Amino acid sequence: MTPALWSSRFAFIMAAVGSAVGLGNIWKFPYITGQNGGGAFVLVYLLCIAIIGIPIMMSEVMLGRRGGKSPIGTMGAVAVAEGRSRGWAGIGIMATLAAFLILSFYSVIAGWTMPYIVEAASGGFAGIAAEDSGALFGGLLASPGQLLLWHSVFMGLTVLVSAGGVKHGLERAVTWLMPALFVLLLILVGYAMTTGHFGEALVFLFRPDFSSLTAESILVALGHAFFTLSLASGAMMAYGAYLKKEVSIARTSFTVAIMDVCVALLAGLAIFPIVFAHGLQPGEGPGLIFVTLPVAFGQMPGGGFFATLFFVLLLFAAWTSSISMLESLVSFLNEKGVSRVKAAVGGGLAAWLVGITTVLSLNLWSDFAPLAMFDRFEGKTLFDLYDYFTANIMMPLGALLTAIFVGWVMKPAHSAAELDGQWHPLWHAVVRYVTPIGVLIIFYFNLS
Ligand code: PFF
Repeated sequence: MTPALWSSRFAFIMAAVGSAVGLGNIWKFPYITGQNGGGAFVLVYLLCIAIIGIPIMMSEVMLGRRGGKSPIGTMGAVAVAEGRSRGWAGIGIMATLAAFLILSFYSVIAGWTMPYIVEAASGGFAGIAAEDSGALFGGLLASPGQLLLWHSVFMGLTVLVSAGGVKHGLERAVTWLMPALFVLLLILVGYAMTTGHFGEALVFLFRPDFSSLTAESILVALGHAFFTLSLASGAMMAYGAYLKKEVSIARTSFTVAIMDVCVALLAGLAIFPIVFAHGLQPGEGPGLIFVTLPVAFGQMPGGGFFATLFFVLLLFAAWTSSISMLESLVSFLNEKGVSRVKAAVGGGLAAWLVGITTVLSLNLWSDFAPLAMFDRFEGKTLFDLYDYFTANIMMPLGALLTAIFVGWVMKPAHSAAELDGQWHPLWHAVVRYVTPIGVLIIFYFNLS
């Protein structure tokens, strides 16, 4: 069955933004920024988006549209059409695997939003103190049963849309979701300005202190640039396959990346003033927004309403991302003759099973660090390892191979046929030299 195309450029942008904007922007960006010392990390992250992320996004959408298949099918087909080995499909295989692993833990985190919606709606955050908010979050993590329940619900939601075909509903959902999320983040930033610690947050986020930058934080920034833009995981390639020929890939990619960055920066501007105002730790870790935001909502007029709305929107933002994670695998299985419904249910079930190990990493297995014999992985739980391997190893490696493919293997005339003429020479030079060298240098400094 040939897949239907997106109805317009706008529809594609909405789906791509829906994929890009998610927990990565609102949950992960603030907490890794806190852990990696602020300004210098943010600067490196922005540079990675501009110099490496956007060109790779253009490459993936271009490959997707040219191949017109699942990421695995596309990479094989485009390579063969270039007279090269079908082995390049390996890029698609690794991407599909990365997306699958990310989905397994993403669903657990996205699940956290649901008990927070319940708590917010029942007025549980009114006047809450920072310690109590910390205790509330701690209580959730300590309960495997609750985590498993919400993980299951979220995975079910993901499978539901995926089975029905992603173009149904996604476009409409994201069209109201993104503006709503934007407005709500602006309201939160407005509140953060009243805490008296906004200036401190601005300094933390935007004044680079290079002494806090390590080789590893540069790798984390690079990995996050890929994660937040949904790159090297097949999502953009799979969505690119449904893109009409006449749409400008360069302009579209810029738009998606800019919207994605704006959401992350707004989240940072909303969260850090609250962190500083309440003496919370910027390096607190994955619980950062779940501990800080309830405190802010608890003090804001109409806080119960805004808190409910915020966690509902976060849930939706995570949902439109998780759907795109499953798409690589589902589109591949579909190509192999498995029905969409069976592929979505099977893929979702497998990711759900792997996700259980993340649920346990947060409580019963929190001391289980399987790779502790390597210094770098000391104290890292299974969940930490999934996150580390996907964002910091598989994604940069996938992007490196993609850059080599489009820069050195594919004939420039063929990529030029897809990419807008005016951008093609610059893009080609970047994917040929800047991206591969940049990724290799960052890898090198992390190995030595
Ligand atoms: N970009 C998503 C986020 O920032 O939350 C995460 C993501 C979506 C990663 C889709 C990979 C993917 F295929």
